[in-house]
Amino acid sequence: MKKIAVFASGSGSNYEAIIEAFHSLDSQQVEVSLLVCDKPQAYVIERAQKWATPTFVISAKEYESKEAFETVILKELEKANIDFIVLAGYMRLLGSTLLQAYMGRILNIHPSLLPAFPGKDALGQALEYGVKVTGITIHFVDEGMDTGPIVLQDTVTIDLHETKTSLAQKIQKLEHQHYPATILQCVTGEIVMEERKVKWVQKSNEL
Ligand code: GRF
Repeated sequence: MKKIAVFASGSGSNYEAIIEAFHSLDSQQVEVSLLVCDKPQAYVIERAQKWATPTFVISAKEYESKEAFETVILKELEKANIDFIVLAGYMRLLGSTLLQAYMGRILNIHPSLLPAFPGKDALGQALEYGVKVTGITIHFVDEGMDTGPIVLQDTVTIDLHETKTSLAQKIQKLEHQHYPATILQCVTGEIVMEERKVKWVQKSNEL
């Protein structure tokens, strides 16, 4: 059984989509063993209570450096024997402490077709630019802001009278549809990151 920690700062709809998908799969392969949240007021904490996910809430402002903050998180991950980190609306750039410990075992989801519109407010950036197609990207995490080898992308069209709200609904639907299955593929080693590239591994029993 592989143990996942979900990192989130906000509403947590992706966290819940992941939990629901894993429950309905009745998966013996993976479980969400920990939620790490850096915002004490975030709605994701309520969702985690409902699903009884152990939750670690930590405030960055109480630490003098990113290293000190992440060292405390890393201890929690080690205590819970976490194998894999899934970022789901975690609004911080990971630092070297977590990256060194989990490189190749961290996924992120971003609401645009990277490398277009990285960073905050990807939907606003897409609407402002006037692109007619945008989408989602699931990628392994490296040192950069929404960089890292891309595992999966999917698209939505931006209609004439699209608003940020209507676009957010389309994007979220796609995120919830793809993230759980892609996480499963990466956690079970079907998809891996090697030398900063994504590689699909053929399982020997499928040969
Ligand atoms: C998602 O759109 C994700 O792509 C981005 O942050 C958002 C989180 O939404 N990284 P939620 O908290 O999972 O509802």
